[in-house]
Amino acid sequence: MKSLDLCVVGAGYVGLVTGACLADVGHRVVCVDSDPTKLKALKAGKIPIHEPGLDEVFRRGVKSGRLRFAGSVVEGLKFKGRRAQVVFIAVGTPPRQDGSADLSAVEAVAETVAKHMDAYTVIVDKSTVPVETGEWVSKTVQRFNRAGIAYDVVSNPEFLSEGSAVKDFLKPDRVVLGVSSKRAEEVMREVYAPLKATVLVTDLKSAELIKHASNSFLATKISYINAVSALCEKVGADVQMVAKGMGLDRRIGPMFLNAGIGFGGFCFPKDLEAFYWISRQKGYDFHLLKSVKEINERQKGWVARKIEEKLWNLEGKTVALLGLAFKPNTDDMRFAPSIDVVLQLKARGVRLRAFDPVAADRAKALPEFKGVHFAKDEYDALKGADALAVVTEWPRFKALDLKRARKLMRTPVLLDGRNLFDPAAARRLGFEYAGVGRP
Ligand SMILES: NC(=O)c1ccc[n+]([C@@H]2O[C@H](COP(=O)([O-])OP(=O)(O)OC[C@H]3O[C@@H](n4cnc5c(N)ncnc54)[C@H](O)[C@@H]3O)[C@@H](O)[C@H]2O)c1
Repeated sequence: MKSLDLCVVGAGYVGLVTGACLADVGHRVVCVDSDPTKLKALKAGKIPIHEPGLDEVFRRGVKSGRLRFAGSVVEGLKFKGRRAQVVFIAVGTPPRQDGSADLSAVEAVAETVAKHMDAYTVIVDKSTVPVETGEWVSKTVQRFNRAGIAYDVVSNPEFLSEGSAVKDFLKPDRVVLGVSSKRAEEVMREVYAPLKATVLVTDLKSAELIKHASNSFLATKISYINAVSALCEKVGADVQMVAKGMGLDRRIGPMFLNAGIGFGGFCFPKDLEAFYWISRQKGYDFHLLKSVKEINERQKGWVARKIEEKLWNLEGKTVALLGLAFKPNTDDMRFAPSIDVVLQLKARGVRLRAFDPVAADRAKALPEFKGVHFAKDEYDALKGADALAVVTEWPRFKALDLKRARKLMRTPVLLDGRNLFDPAAARRLGFEYAGVGRP
């Protein structure tokens, strides 16, 4: 295997996992981040995010000397005398007010690389970006590359999921490489050779579209089953049985067919918006995506609607929320449905007690959570509660001792926003139970 010198700009959920994993398989990696607090933590050997398995690869990388950190792109490009052959851009691409992606951080990195590279460099866009971003990056590099150094721009979208990011990165379903030259393709194949993964080589624009289209498709699947769950509730059918029956069809598959209280996170909501925005800008009204978003918005009101149905007047009543992260096994609170749930319940005068095994500290820092009591565990959250709402499907909640829970609560109302519990068992224990799309 050929070891390459790589620079990964942006040491967040994607960049840090990418950097640590590529160092683990033998490359020399410098992770760059402009956030001084994050950088200080990384240099001190502390991982600023919760991601299963990251600790191990991170420690191995640091110990071997193949994973290092820098505070600027200039430093990362030539770290201790070694020149980066490949620069990954893995910075954030947050949503703007109008739904488009804010690509200013991508542009800033491209400009700095252009000004400071001094030999052929492959500039890789790993951040999720709208189609034609690669062309813009290339134009930017051309503009500031006054020395006329050879370069190539590659689109290499990332498909990892938070909560299983390390595993997903090291054993991907596919590696997509959008390239415009054979030279860049060869370098990128060397980067990924140790993973022995299926590599799909395309043009730049197709690679960019693969990412937006994939995330929007997964979001569509979730909204689809959530819409079906709404119908199930109207007619008294069981969405879990419907999903099972659908998922057994190999053309459909069982994944992403779990009805719940809607999707969130830093990817689906913003990528859906950005895909809709860029499609419209290019002259196609991708209306389907609008419906996917509308269904999701409605679904995020499920907990508040059900609580109102069950508890009548909400002013002064207490609700326990189990789980706050946008999904299990992560501390990420960005665009988490729990934020909507908290705002809706607070607006109705509900007192909130919440527990999340790892995301509580991040939640505490958000203004939306002001006034929420953060409990030390799930049972502490349930003390005196008029209702319990499952917001995130952390595996440990499945093992909740419902008997003990019932004793701690003022009234035994269980709103199972992630369909974790067996309705019959919960009812046998005296709970008034409501699941999503379940009779
Ligand atoms: N989080 C995911 O599950 C996931 C999965 C696939 C793709 N993506 C995409 O990857 C990109 C990054 O997402 P993330 O979740 O890692 O975001 P993040 O916010 O966790 O990380 C981005 C990092 O970039 C740093 N940064 C910003 N501007 C910089 C600059 N000019 N120079 C150096 N560092 C800079 C920030 O300080 C931050 O640490 C986004 O486009 C996202 O859509 C995310």
